[in-house]
Amino acid sequence: MTTEKTFYLETFGCQMNAHDSEKVIGTLVGEGYRQVENEVDASLILYNTCSIRDKAEQKVFNRLNDYKKLYKSGKRFAVLGCVAQQEGEKIFERAPYVSLVSGSASYRKLPEMLARVEAGENRVTGLDDRQTDETFETELTSRQSPFRAYITIIEGCDKFCAYCVVPYTRGKERSRTSESVLEEARRIIDQGYTEIQLLGQNVNSWKDPEGKRSFAELLAAVGEIAGVRRVRFMTSHPRDFTREIVDVIDSVPTLCDHVHLPVQSGSTRILNQMNREYTRDWYLERISWIKAAKRRIALTTDIIVGFPGETPEEFIETMDMLHDVQYDAVFGFKYSPRPNTPALVMIDSISEEEKARRLDVLLERQHEIQRAININYIGQEMEVMVEGFNTTRNQIMGRSSQYKTVNYTTSSLIAPAVGSYARVRVTGAHPNSLVGEAIL
Ligand code: 5AD
Ligand code: SF4
Repeated sequence: MTTEKTFYLETFGCQMNAHDSEKVIGTLVGEGYRQVENEVDASLILYNTCSIRDKAEQKVFNRLNDYKKLYKSGKRFAVLGCVAQQEGEKIFERAPYVSLVSGSASYRKLPEMLARVEAGENRVTGLDDRQTDETFETELTSRQSPFRAYITIIEGCDKFCAYCVVPYTRGKERSRTSESVLEEARRIIDQGYTEIQLLGQNVNSWKDPEGKRSFAELLAAVGEIAGVRRVRFMTSHPRDFTREIVDVIDSVPTLCDHVHLPVQSGSTRILNQMNREYTRDWYLERISWIKAAKRRIALTTDIIVGFPGETPEEFIETMDMLHDVQYDAVFGFKYSPRPNTPALVMIDSISEEEKARRLDVLLERQHEIQRAININYIGQEMEVMVEGFNTTRNQIMGRSSQYKTVNYTTSSLIAPAVGSYARVRVTGAHPNSLVGEAIL
């Protein structure tokens, strides 16, 4: 008698991680596993971890402690992702019931690693670090969203920002060829998707290994595939942000009018300490290109407050940045020291209370800016892609090309399909969303 192989996968972290999980799921299904909804029914439990901030390692070990109770029933456990890469074999010491530890740079070896786990091996590892040149491309990707398809075009990171674990957890930068990206994009469109999001830790640092296309040319080529309606890309690094990217958004209508361009700080001295390789003025110059585009391109950013040594005046420079740029959304974080990073040896003397205060002040100010920006949309018509429904409020939830959430009502008795497009007139605005009515 053969017992059925089942797995349960839990995922944390960024979109890259979520998309890695889609590829891991596809690979497991290809190996004869069936995905189940909870730990109890699974013969293999996988935990895809993130270590970007806070006490991520501790959280992972706490979660593994919960899993320990399930161990008796003969289940297998795997820790994947950034904490797996960062902690490596230490995970086996602290959680001996774990049989597989693998970082993302080793996922192409998953079938082989799984076979070893199934054969009863206890300490299987995939800890390829910055030496590897391999990317994880698989036709078996099990896309979890019915409307937005992700494609990783570049893995790893070579930037080494002083605060960041990613270069240590995801290995060195490896770009896929434009031919392989385009082939995947065409396949996805044939499957019925209309929105593609190109992913990379520094997506615009992508370089065609065959030298055929620049990043902007790749954007154009994806945007011109018949059947594509929306193309997004995340996350851009200011250092590699070219004017050509804005030109291509101007000339290819399917490229969404949204750029996520993390600034991290408004102070040139702090940017230098962070090893960001640009100054405040250099960043603002790129913003001026984006603002000069034919369409209004929405701008979003990431900001870290309380980086070691950030003075109150330098924090004010970041506040001024909000005013100067007028972002559509800001993801703000309190600096948290991460293992292996250069900033770890800098004196982190700003108290948690002061970091929290700076973050509150920043987000409060940004809230008001977003309120003022969004009011300008009242009365405008926009195309919205339907993502879901709020049945209690009788609203349909969708996103504009600028990635703004639009909650709208319709007089139609037929609910629109998730993934379909609707024309909506904006009737109201909040800091984080717009409200509207379908134009039938
Ligand atoms: N502390 C706080 N925020 C961080 N980020 C990355 N590393 C840290 C850290 N050590 C933030 C950055 C990055 C986003 C994904 O997370 O703003 O752009
Ligand atoms: Fe988290 Fe960074 Fe790893 Fe993404 S790459 S999962 S954000 S640590």
